[in-house]
Amino acid sequence: MAGTYAGLVSSPLGKKLAVQLGLPRPAQLRRYAVGAPLVDGPVLVGGLGEAPVGSRVRALLAAEAIDTVAEVTAGERVGAVVADLTAISTLDELDVLRTLVAPAVKGLKPSGRVIVVGRDHRTAASPAQAAARRALEGFTRSLGKELRAGSTANLLLVEEGADANADAALRFLLSGRSAYVDAQVVRVGPGSPTEPASWARPLDGKVAVVTGAARGIGAAIADVLARDGAAVVCVDIPAAGDALTRTANRVGGTALQLDVTSAEAGERILEHANSRHGGLDIVVHNAGITRDKLLANMDEGRWGSVIDVNLGAILRMNQTLLGSGGLRDGGHVVLVSSIAGIAGNRGQTNYATSKAGVIGLVEALAADSGLRRRGVTVNAVAPGFIETEMTAKVPFATREVGRLLNSLNQGGLPLDVAETIAWFSQDANAGVSGNVVRVCGQSLLGA
Ligand SMILES: NC(=O)c1ccc[n+]([C@@H]2O[C@H](COP(=O)([O-])OP(=O)(O)OC[C@H]3O[C@@H](n4cnc5c(N)ncnc54)[C@H](O)[C@@H]3O)[C@@H](O)[C@H]2O)c1
Repeated sequence: MAGTYAGLVSSPLGKKLAVQLGLPRPAQLRRYAVGAPLVDGPVLVGGLGEAPVGSRVRALLAAEAIDTVAEVTAGERVGAVVADLTAISTLDELDVLRTLVAPAVKGLKPSGRVIVVGRDHRTAASPAQAAARRALEGFTRSLGKELRAGSTANLLLVEEGADANADAALRFLLSGRSAYVDAQVVRVGPGSPTEPASWARPLDGKVAVVTGAARGIGAAIADVLARDGAAVVCVDIPAAGDALTRTANRVGGTALQLDVTSAEAGERILEHANSRHGGLDIVVHNAGITRDKLLANMDEGRWGSVIDVNLGAILRMNQTLLGSGGLRDGGHVVLVSSIAGIAGNRGQTNYATSKAGVIGLVEALAADSGLRRRGVTVNAVAPGFIETEMTAKVPFATREVGRLLNSLNQGGLPLDVAETIAWFSQDANAGVSGNVVRVCGQSLLGA
């Protein structure tokens, strides 16, 4: 952090100046550690009517020996708030957001969580209900911008009849695993989730492949998947062979040197996973490159390589990996998009084109009837500013702006992206498919 804005405002003099000038000071985020409690403190759970998802929250917190309260009194501190508005049907009922959440926000502990629960407005029974349901998104996104000290606000939309599928998402959003996930809409739908024997090792017995695993976000994904119990096949180009071996050794997995753009990439991955690990359950398409230039100066090489590594290679590999004899039933596919693919970014027409294409691919695969029948989920993360070698190359001023222009006033860690990917990879999360979750601290880019 030395030499950065965050380093400056955490020095004694810098801190004083920042307070006087009202400048943002990045908080230390609560991140997951094995054995750490799901939430730091009691959780306020409330809502409208029977609040069925709220009941699930109470049950899962009771199992974790975490207290829940129905209201907070002045001066009381809570670790999180869950407001179940799945029953909302009128605009008047929106006032619950104010009466329930406002007092709790005042007493929210650092790195606290606000989770608003609702249903998709497109399935509403009346225009008023659609308006009230959709209104929850504006509330949540604004609250994300108001919360301080590393706290986040997210909206969970649970399909009618799928309340029982929401547990893994609730756990993720409450825990330190979602430290850099802020102001997101997570959708839970049908599926057949299975609860792990241990929530500390939700991927026990699974085999995962991670491309681009030699360094950066890919190496962190390998670490987290292995920590959660998976055997990990680490893939990267031969030129990154030494770093790849280090990752594979660290996680107790295997290394596979491979250029993902090669025609036989899918076959080689599958053959390796089958022969060394006995099958394949999780595919994480993380390998990616940038070759930035303004469009006016964009040559064919820069354009073509970015589209091919970031998108074309995934399509080709999927033909084998998702075909018959590939990924096992109930498996999980996770792609890595970018907020540049959502908001666009100057100098990155090629990159943003490829990363927007990734989102289209996720939507198509999640809707594919064959994959749905097999219980395969397909999701994407869209990282914002993450501290890696890729972003270290960005010029200083642009880099500092990228770090600060988000509700948490700091860059995310590769670990934060990896935690979201590991959650997408859980069988317990089988109701979450077709989601693109930004891991961006509510970046102002495309917010
Ligand atoms: N760092 C960020 O802030 C950020 C933001 C948004 C999205 N992303 C995405 O996250 C992913 C990982 O990014 P990172 O920051 O860790 O990048 P990185 O450059 O540090 O690591 C990428 C890895 O992919 C490997 N790779 C590249 N081309 C390959 C190929 N043809 N075959 C096999 N491996 C290949 C590289 O050797 C490298 O090890 C990428 O898809 C990137 O676009 C990163």
